[in-house]
Amino acid sequence: MKFGYFDDQNREYVIQQPNTPLPWINFLGNEKYFGIISNTAGGYSFYQDARLRRITRYRYNNAPLDVGGRYLYIRDNKAASLGQEDYYWSPSWQPVRKDLDQYQCRHGLGYTTILGKKNDLICEGSYFVPLNQDFEVWRFTLKNQRKQPADLSLYSAVEFCLWDAADDQNNFQRNLSIGEVEVEDGVIYHKTEYRERRNHYSYLACSVPIKGFETQREAFLGPYRGWENPLAVEKGTTENSLAHGWQPIGAHHIRLTLQPGESQEVIFILGYQENSRKKKFSDPESQILNKSEAKSKLKMYLNSDYVVNALSELKEYWDDLLGVYQVNTPDPHIDRMVNLWNQYQVMATFNFSRSASYFESGIGRGMGFRDSNQDLLGFVHLIPERARERILDLAGTQKEDGSAYHQYSPLTKRGNDAVGSDFNDDPLWLVLAVAAYLKETEDWPILDNLVPYDNQPGSEKTLFHHLNASINFTLDRLGPHELPLIGRADWNDCLNLNCYSTEPGQSFQTTTNKGGKTAESVFIAGLFILAANEMVKISKFRKDEISVNRYQKAAEKMELSIWEHGWDGEWFKRAYDDAGAPVGSRSCAEGQIFIEPQGFCIMAGLGLRNGKARMALDSVNERLATEHGIVLQQPAYSKYYLNLGEITSYPPGYKENAGIFCHTNPWIMIAEAMLGEGKKALDYYHLINPSVREEFSDLHKCEPYVYAQMIAGRDAATPGEAKNSWLTGTAAWNFLAISQWILGIRPDYDGLIIDPVIPEEWNGFQAVRKFRNVTYKINVSRIGQGDDLKISIDGKHIRGNIIKRVPRDLSEIEVDVSIGSVT
Ligand code: BGC
Ligand code: NOJ
Repeated sequence: MKFGYFDDQNREYVIQQPNTPLPWINFLGNEKYFGIISNTAGGYSFYQDARLRRITRYRYNNAPLDVGGRYLYIRDNKAASLGQEDYYWSPSWQPVRKDLDQYQCRHGLGYTTILGKKNDLICEGSYFVPLNQDFEVWRFTLKNQRKQPADLSLYSAVEFCLWDAADDQNNFQRNLSIGEVEVEDGVIYHKTEYRERRNHYSYLACSVPIKGFETQREAFLGPYRGWENPLAVEKGTTENSLAHGWQPIGAHHIRLTLQPGESQEVIFILGYQENSRKKKFSDPESQILNKSEAKSKLKMYLNSDYVVNALSELKEYWDDLLGVYQVNTPDPHIDRMVNLWNQYQVMATFNFSRSASYFESGIGRGMGFRDSNQDLLGFVHLIPERARERILDLAGTQKEDGSAYHQYSPLTKRGNDAVGSDFNDDPLWLVLAVAAYLKETEDWPILDNLVPYDNQPGSEKTLFHHLNASINFTLDRLGPHELPLIGRADWNDCLNLNCYSTEPGQSFQTTTNKGGKTAESVFIAGLFILAANEMVKISKFRKDEISVNRYQKAAEKMELSIWEHGWDGEWFKRAYDDAGAPVGSRSCAEGQIFIEPQGFCIMAGLGLRNGKARMALDSVNERLATEHGIVLQQPAYSKYYLNLGEITSYPPGYKENAGIFCHTNPWIMIAEAMLGEGKKALDYYHLINPSVREEFSDLHKCEPYVYAQMIAGRDAATPGEAKNSWLTGTAAWNFLAISQWILGIRPDYDGLIIDPVIPEEWNGFQAVRKFRNVTYKINVSRIGQGDDLKISIDGKHIRGNIIKRVPRDLSEIEVDVSIGSVT
């Protein structure tokens, strides 16, 4: 069953009924001011950091689902006076949830529009954050389709968060006494804690004169009432309450009469503003907010022309970004994911890491070191300058011994001490991120950029030094089989081989009660080889022969250790536990084969020539592949194993315990593509592709336009049911698998590789790739069977599959690729 459809032309997903299986969301904002918005206008906004600068309040995991949002109520005053039912409603359905005669939500690139019609009144709201601004705009157009005038009251409503979202839901003895607001010219200013150390405030403004307002929540809702039936709306009144403590909100009351056929536009602006410390107050002796910055923005943006213009600028911005990689293939699911939604999701993961979504509460996790490096792999082609900045931020949190804080705060850019380090895979991901950045940009000087360790002034060393420290970190921590020690966990956060936890509530990842000198990871070994191979190539470019040799030797040695101790006969083992027993081996009772080392060892080049890669991938196909995707391991763990940790805490089939952990599936797609098996790679690609899964949205449950972290596996009670949509490494890796490996358009250090491995039944495809200031217009046509390639540029045949140099004066080239051989 579907709940909407893709409008590919307009680059929107259209939702046709409000009660989707879960809230289906979109992200607003570009660099600093962000919001999350659901298809019924739920969600919240924040500035830079979803925990420390939360602007509006949201209640996670509530019943009904999705409480808290950017709400609008329409009250039909005449119907109310006649005692008719349904005289007020929300055009976004929530929070009132009265049936609408028509409903449609369109999630687009950085904006959402929600249309609700009831009793011949149409209201369409568009929500977005203009480029480079620290506020969001809600633009409503109301139209009266009746034959009589409509006498209406409109109410806006947001609930302000007292900034630190964790404290906001925790420290009530204080928080219920600190709320403060000011109201001036109809603008509601939220200024809790401004009197002391904060120098930021938020505001909600409206483009039309108001009849009244409320800023005290209970004055608006009435005691023991919820957002679905506020007393103020029920009665059609407002008391102009000023919040002192309790729960500050922003609610305007607007009266309007619409003649038959008449439309009116009402714009609201919800914004965040910082003042310089010296100019905090309007008069230094007063406690009155200095509102001049907000006022000058409102002067412009409460005005329709500015808003219309800002929305079209936003659309142009996305057109430009997405123009870097566009394809036209015989497969609509590929086209819409690659051209649009997958790249859009990659941007969200780059912006938020794993911090704020409908599954990440915005208070628990900052920017993940491992996560951000991987997100960057799929993002770097979009805005290389931001990728550069991110790389330097990440490297700046690295410690001198190469270790990395597992997370850092995007606001302070400091490592998170509570989570600390010792996830032994972390440092190596930095090498992959820098390699991807160099391949995209050729910005070799970045390697000589000075970056501090642990943000300590005076500790600056070159970025290359940091990369070397990453490699050394692994080499300094090898275990009994000369394989890397796993530490708290590797990519699989739940494989906790050094935490024998018997106490409920203990953190599996940060409680470490084993020596840490025995448990080893074959996954890290594969990742290490991949990273070391990149270091070999990077060092070659730097003409640093000593490093070339060193990294080459280290990679070769690690490969020997894998073949000796990490190969299980038909697949790669996963790890060794603290007792030195193998994990992910035929000899285990459960968890005999894991997906991660198959993907990583093969991506690192192992077994490509001796048949073992094929053997491992056949084992994956036989033991792990299911109709909904490839599960993480088999057999699922049926009970809790003290020596394995959180992975065995999950009921079978969910999350890391044999769920389809979608992040890992593209590794297998890439491995198949490396072996020339485009068809197999594409078959796997289809299984987890959200657009393909749209047909059975009632089972899948999550949004059909973005990847979810996990789809329940075959051992689960609900196979095929997805969870944790949006913020997952699945986005970046799937983009890589399809765009770089299956379609085969892949940046390398010295040029653009064109190496498609497409199914026999495809006649070809076209692509446009902007790369290092040149637009490559690529036309691939199949002329026979197989993957043999012939490439010509502007009509001239070239040797090999890499386009190295394009004459300087050319900004656009035509690349013709014929694939297959004529027999
Ligand atoms: C989840 C992992 C996640 C980890 C973060 C675990 O509960 O299963 O997917 O990476 O928490 O700490
Ligand atoms: C989600 C985490 O964000 C990611 O870092 C980790 O690799 C996976 N879970 C697997 O555990």
